[in-house]
Amino acid sequence: MSTLQFISIICTFLLFLISFISTSTSAVDTYSYESIKGAYWPSDRFSYLPPSAIDTTLFTHVYYAFLLPNNVTSKFMIDNSTALQLVTFTSTLHSKKPPVKALFSTGGGGDLPFQFSQMASTPSLRRNFILSTIEVARKFGFDGIDLDWEYPQNPQEMQDYAILLEEWRAEVIKESEATNCPQLLLSAAVYFSANFFLHGPFRTYPVASINKNLDWINAMCYDYHGSWEPTITGSHSALIDPKSNISTSYGLESWIKAGILRSKLVMGLPLYGKTWTLKDLMDSGVGAPAIDVGPSGAGGKGVLFYYEVEDFNKKNNATVQFDLGTLSTYSVAGNIWIGYDDSRSTALRIAFAQALRLRGYFFWALSFDRDWQISETASRFWIGWK
Ligand SMILES: *[C@@H]1O[C@H](CO)[C@@H](O)[C@H](O)[C@H]1NC(C)=O
Ligand SMILES: *[C@@H]1O[C@H](CO)[C@@H](O)[C@H](O)[C@H]1NC(C)=O
Ligand SMILES: *[C@@H]1O[C@H](CO)[C@@H](O)[C@H](O)[C@H]1NC(C)=O
Ligand SMILES: *[C@@H]1O[C@H](CO)[C@@H](O)[C@H](O)[C@H]1NC(C)=O
Repeated sequence: MSTLQFISIICTFLLFLISFISTSTSAVDTYSYESIKGAYWPSDRFSYLPPSAIDTTLFTHVYYAFLLPNNVTSKFMIDNSTALQLVTFTSTLHSKKPPVKALFSTGGGGDLPFQFSQMASTPSLRRNFILSTIEVARKFGFDGIDLDWEYPQNPQEMQDYAILLEEWRAEVIKESEATNCPQLLLSAAVYFSANFFLHGPFRTYPVASINKNLDWINAMCYDYHGSWEPTITGSHSALIDPKSNISTSYGLESWIKAGILRSKLVMGLPLYGKTWTLKDLMDSGVGAPAIDVGPSGAGGKGVLFYYEVEDFNKKNNATVQFDLGTLSTYSVAGNIWIGYDDSRSTALRIAFAQALRLRGYFFWALSFDRDWQISETASRFWIGWK
């Protein structure tokens, strides 16, 4: 793409932003809050990076991903090797220059919703869970706890979610007063949209309880398309989508319309791409026909981490394209198609989040970057509120 073309894209984008922002009216409450530049740190062996290798100039909060409560008691049972990993994680992040805050995240993208719904709907298990999260956080030196319940399945579970947050915050306040320690941070990873409108019963997050009880939420603005749609290519982190509501702009706007405080909304960015095998070499855009997923990497079927995408593109002399329809990046090499975000499309997303006056951004996941390329771009483009 020529510089001229890129400038015209940016102008189009800015016009879009201006029209978008003038239609959103909720109160501005952002300016006195510290920015969040977050990233999840997966502890599994496929994506392990030693905490000492984390460039802490690029982040403010790093999440240990993940710890799971016992599925019968809802308490955490930490074995010795995990305990060592947790202590290493927090002490390393706190002693780096500059230090960053460390939270642990509980849950994840696995098939655990039943475990969380059972806990949240049962008063005694809720209490076990809440007390156990606080105990683990203090014992291992965390600054806070992140809830990654994917996802509450119906309106009743959304009510349980609200009650869980209410009791959790009350306990965190109580513990802070009893120990004279600062309150633990409480955050949550949530769906890209405030409403679930695609699968299962329509349901909305309990925004009032979130505003009152959580420090912020991490909206997962990715995974819009993938291996479950093997016959059509897609931008899995489309910033806009002319044809559907499955996009970051729709999702973030839905949160704002639902009443979330902008100071509590943090935008997710993916450090991975989704791959397809094209049906027709002459039809290779976003939404082109495909016959299957493409290559798979450490992240599973049809998924390549950003550094794997970069390696693939280089090795196969791929053509990298910017898609105007979704404001995202894709690459094509032969019949292989990869949708992902590079520095340019990440910078646009950062501009978008700032235009919406959000609190910050986060990555899934820290170790998928290549030499901090994308993390650095995001950090540089984020101007901050302080
Ligand atoms: C709890 O987890 C264990 C081990 O993963 C499993 O065998 C068991 O079925 C689970 N129980 C419930 C109630 O989900
Ligand atoms: C775990 O550590 C504790 C105390 O540090 C020790 O008593 C226990 O034997 C250890 N357990 C295992 C399985 O190594
Ligand atoms: C997108 O959502 C709005 C309501 O938020 C609805 O009116 C519209 O029909 C939806 N568009 C599509 C393509 O589903
Ligand atoms: C890579 O692709 C470009 C055009 O996209 C072509 O000009 C060049 O010769 C290719 N290089 C190799 C090593 O295949």
